[in-house]
Amino acid sequence: MDVARIFENNRKWVEEKLKEDTRYFVSLAEGQNPEFLYIGCSDSRVTAEELMGVRPGQAFVYRNIANMVSNNDLSAQSVVSYAVTHLKVNHIVVCGHYYCTGIKAAMQSADLGILNPWLRNVRDVYRLHKTELNSISDEEERYKRLVELNVQEQCINVIKTADVQKAFKECNLRIHGWVFDIGTGKLIDLKIETDKIMNEITEIYRII
Ligand code: CO
Repeated sequence: MDVARIFENNRKWVEEKLKEDTRYFVSLAEGQNPEFLYIGCSDSRVTAEELMGVRPGQAFVYRNIANMVSNNDLSAQSVVSYAVTHLKVNHIVVCGHYYCTGIKAAMQSADLGILNPWLRNVRDVYRLHKTELNSISDEEERYKRLVELNVQEQCINVIKTADVQKAFKECNLRIHGWVFDIGTGKLIDLKIETDKIMNEITEIYRII
């Protein structure tokens, strides 16, 4: 696509928005009050706002390869902290997706350079759930399950942070694990029992 086309698209978009509401951008410039923090994969096929049907201003978005919430990722930790303590979001969503090339790449025996340490986190998820995953003979189904288990583990990583533990106690923060099925367009709620997880991991990870 010609880059000039992007600017043409933008001009049309501004026109359309102003036709609906002449103060649209003035209102956007006044500030944000999103209800959701969405943590998803950088995959170009998984667009947070579009798949959730939300408008600009409704979701604070953080995306990286394979939707990871690593404890030593300053960016992820800053996003979670800012969303919880300043934006006071009501929901944190970790959204994975089937056919995630990041997840698949993590399971290959290949030297991927700088991606090695990043994707090692996915291998750690596999190791934690090795018995279940190895029992799935169909390769595609095994990858799909790894996508789901990775979402679950990243939800747990969210719960490990001090700001989230504080918000759990002080306000009604909810954490959700979802998977977007690229093959059907459907969003699947993994119904991760975060209250139960919170209780289970408290012994080791309680900070507050
Ligand atoms: Co992906």
